[in-house]
Amino acid sequence: MTAHISEQLKKIEWPAPRAWKVAFHAIDDALAARLLTRRVPATASSQPRLLNLGCGPVRYPDWINADFCTFGWIIRGFSPPEWVMDATKPWKCPDNYWDGIFTEHVLEHFSYKDAIFAIGECYRTLKPSAWLRISVPDIEKFIGLEPVMAKYQRRPVAVSVAAQHFGHRSVWDPSLMMEVAAERGFTNI
Ligand SMILES: C[S@@+](CC[C@H](N)C(=O)[O-])C[C@H]1O[C@@H](n2cnc3c(N)ncnc32)[C@H](O)[C@@H]1O
Repeated sequence: MTAHISEQLKKIEWPAPRAWKVAFHAIDDALAARLLTRRVPATASSQPRLLNLGCGPVRYPDWINADFCTFGWIIRGFSPPEWVMDATKPWKCPDNYWDGIFTEHVLEHFSYKDAIFAIGECYRTLKPSAWLRISVPDIEKFIGLEPVMAKYQRRPVAVSVAAQHFGHRSVWDPSLMMEVAAERGFTNI
């Protein structure tokens, strides 16, 4: 039994990128932050202003789709979003601007410090009584639910994959996210 699970665990690839890739991405990110990020683009004043933060390939018509586009993206032929920005740095966007912000599978890629900063920028740039919808993996589900267990064999493996793979840098559950949002100023959570 012990040997069996050990063999399975050894097959789980550890997400350790090569040093040259880390260096390449660090340079690419720094150049992109300096040269590619922009002010928020203008929208028709009659339309609700909706932001899809960290859109990746998921682009919504009539929304401002925003992401941190790098030179690596451009070389690979990905089309830049309407708003190229870095959510972890002060947003080039006025206060009280958005009617709604949606962000899915993004904040878990940030350190806690950066995620807290981005949630603060959401608060600053949302109009009073506008809405924010955040979707991140709920670590409680990885700890507790049987379908996840079946896929990853054991609870610690499910938690390890959720926390450390896919470029994830922070781990959340609903109560932690709600507490942070409340501390950034959000109400009616
Ligand atoms: C896992 S993808 C999610 C994409 C899309 N929201 C979805 O649900 O499929 C994470 C996205 O966050 C973006 N991202 C990472 N760091 C960012 C940053 N500092 N500012 C803005 N977007 C960022 C990535 O470029 C990527 O497109």
